[in-house]
Amino acid sequence: FSLKNYNTFGIDATAKYFVEINSLKELRSIIGNNDYPRKIVIGGGSNMLLTDNIDALFIHINLKGKSIISESPDTAQVKIMAGENWHEMVMWSLENGFGGLENLSLIPGNTGTAPIQNIGAYGVELKDCFVSCEAIRIEDLQLITLNKEECKFGYRDSYFKNEGKDKYVITSVTFSLTKDNHIINSGYGAIEEQLERDTIKNPTIKDISNAVIAIRQSKLPDPKVLGNSGSFFKNPMVSTEVFNEFISKHPEAPFYKISDLTYKIPAGWLIEKCGFKGKRFGDAGVHKNQALVLVNYDKATGKEILALASKIIEEVQNKFNITISPEVNLIK
Ligand code: EPU
Repeated sequence: FSLKNYNTFGIDATAKYFVEINSLKELRSIIGNNDYPRKIVIGGGSNMLLTDNIDALFIHINLKGKSIISESPDTAQVKIMAGENWHEMVMWSLENGFGGLENLSLIPGNTGTAPIQNIGAYGVELKDCFVSCEAIRIEDLQLITLNKEECKFGYRDSYFKNEGKDKYVITSVTFSLTKDNHIINSGYGAIEEQLERDTIKNPTIKDISNAVIAIRQSKLPDPKVLGNSGSFFKNPMVSTEVFNEFISKHPEAPFYKISDLTYKIPAGWLIEKCGFKGKRFGDAGVHKNQALVLVNYDKATGKEILALASKIIEEVQNKFNITISPEVNLIK
């Protein structure tokens, strides 16, 4: 079964078996089926690299539904099924006048996989609006609820990438959104610049969403046109010691201070400084507007993308003595 249309990188790798899930009943029955020794759950396929043909059953979660489950004068809680497209859901929330997710407009992928890496962009992370999620616990097939604390969100990180890895299939996510007194997050440099270009002084949530869409369209390739998985690498977190040495050699580098002990350095800058931005190696390449994004020009294989990623990791290490690591899930 070709997975080409199920991963935004557009890698033409195959799954030994494939099934689409449209109900919790179907999900329970397939998870409980022991005929398949290896099962891999996928949503929008926007954060993975298929490094080869995979000897496993791919379970595509297609659970649909968006509902407003409770409202107060100021807030609304919405419950979104895992198979809902993230961006369409954000547009739906804005059409209802609900605020909170506007900075996360146009992120590829589905809602059910968003908590796993706590998706984030332009000063906001999923966790900022997250209330809870429901998931099927694989060991006993029970539908359980995990609250925000239990999800242990961090930068592109959560419980589901650590202790909870491979133990749950998320089936829905509940968010708390604002109906009034929206919190406008326009502080991220690129948003401020965009609003200025559009001569918007007091942005609404819809203005923020439009600004984010414009920025993303200018910097990030549309997976429908050019295969990619967004940021291929995470921005490295380094200690004060490593940071001081780095910044004394490269005083012009951008950085974010996370705490007194840690700094985050944009991997895109490091990769660009190694000369990779816009470079192409066969059908694998580094995007011309954002060096953090690897792209598939047409027929790149997962192995070719991986080889390019390894080369980048090595050169960044040699030049800056900083280790960058993939943000996308490498499926082997
Ligand atoms: N930069 C460069 N060259 C590049 C890319 C970036 O010098 O090729 C510099 C920029 O000039 C800027 C800094 O790096 O000073 C940060 O760049 P940008 O604002 O584009 O953000 P980023 O840190 O590269 C992160 C997220 C993106 C998210 C943006 C905006 C990660 C791994 N990536 O990228 O998320 O959209 O911030 O908030 O944290 C994703 O996860 O798939 C993703 C696209």
